[in-house]
Amino acid sequence: MFLKNAWYVAAWDHEILADTLLARTLLGVPVLFYRKENGDVVAMDDKCCHRHAPLHLGRKQGDCVRCMYHGVTYGPDGRCVEVPGQAKLPAALKQRTYPVVQKKRWVWIWMGDAERADEAAIPDTFSLDHPEWRWLPNYLQYDCSHLLITDNLLDFSHLDYVHEKTFGGASSIAETQPLIEMLERGIRIRRPVRDTVPAPYHRKLGRFEGNVDRWFTYDFHAPGILLLDAGVKPTGTPDDDLSEALRFHSCQAITPENDRSTHYFFMSAHNFRRDDAVVTETIARSLNAAFAEDKLILEAQQKMIDSTAESPMVAIGADNALYRYRRLMAKLLAEDAGESSGAGAFPRAA
Ligand code: FES
Ligand SMILES: [Fe+2]
Repeated sequence: MFLKNAWYVAAWDHEILADTLLARTLLGVPVLFYRKENGDVVAMDDKCCHRHAPLHLGRKQGDCVRCMYHGVTYGPDGRCVEVPGQAKLPAALKQRTYPVVQKKRWVWIWMGDAERADEAAIPDTFSLDHPEWRWLPNYLQYDCSHLLITDNLLDFSHLDYVHEKTFGGASSIAETQPLIEMLERGIRIRRPVRDTVPAPYHRKLGRFEGNVDRWFTYDFHAPGILLLDAGVKPTGTPDDDLSEALRFHSCQAITPENDRSTHYFFMSAHNFRRDDAVVTETIARSLNAAFAEDKLILEAQQKMIDSTAESPMVAIGADNALYRYRRLMAKLLAEDAGESSGAGAFPRAA
């Protein structure tokens, strides 16, 4: 079950060019994206309502798209504008369209009740469009439920183990208790890690002679946007002195493709050595390598869950944020479905 009345990231803006017909399945629904002549993005069902051929195999004609099976053509509002050889256009020959917004390099889609789509509810992904931050865009597809990726992002203790050779390298992250605060539609987590060894990733980017302090402060907005302020500085320097620090801001978006496949859009920006393209590239590559580590364990976890009899998972302290977030999601899902309460329910693991 997916939260319908919510904004999801559907694509990077550069994935939809002037002549692109982009096909992407979101929340189990095949959607077609293209741009009108004025640059605005259109999102409509990819399944042609005539005989269900995919529209992405069609042809863009001005602001319209022609299905290249029998030639039926639809306008950007989804209404049929032409049926070859037929003067009368049946009203039912109409594609569902979706509210779509392009904001700070991401294309957002609203798959629920169109009247409830409020652009103001899109989280502020400031570093995606800010002159002081540099980054490269990235994308991975995971063969697992979006819920397993959410769990992973709500508990950074896994950095020490899954990312031993990239972002971790000690057990200090897992040993530091996170500070957790519930937001109206999300969760805020702070994890200051003191006097630890620099991660292999930090050694590539900076010269740290001794131990370091690290910080991870992030908001996870339901149903799948993570905005992270993270960094590293020499131990002993005051917290408000970032002159020797490496600071990162990361925007990550998890959008279900279906129950067992998830789109993952992400980047990590840096505001130090801004004009050094090698730094930008190194960060992007390191992030990609680290997320491939997540992909490996999460896809294996999904296979294990699916191939064995259903049984309860046994909680540990590190799961605190996961459980609290899942309870919030149960409440939001109940509201989404028009039910009065669901706060007590707990969704299955995946
Ligand atoms: S299936 Fe699209 S026009 Fe017939
Ligand atoms: Fe990870």
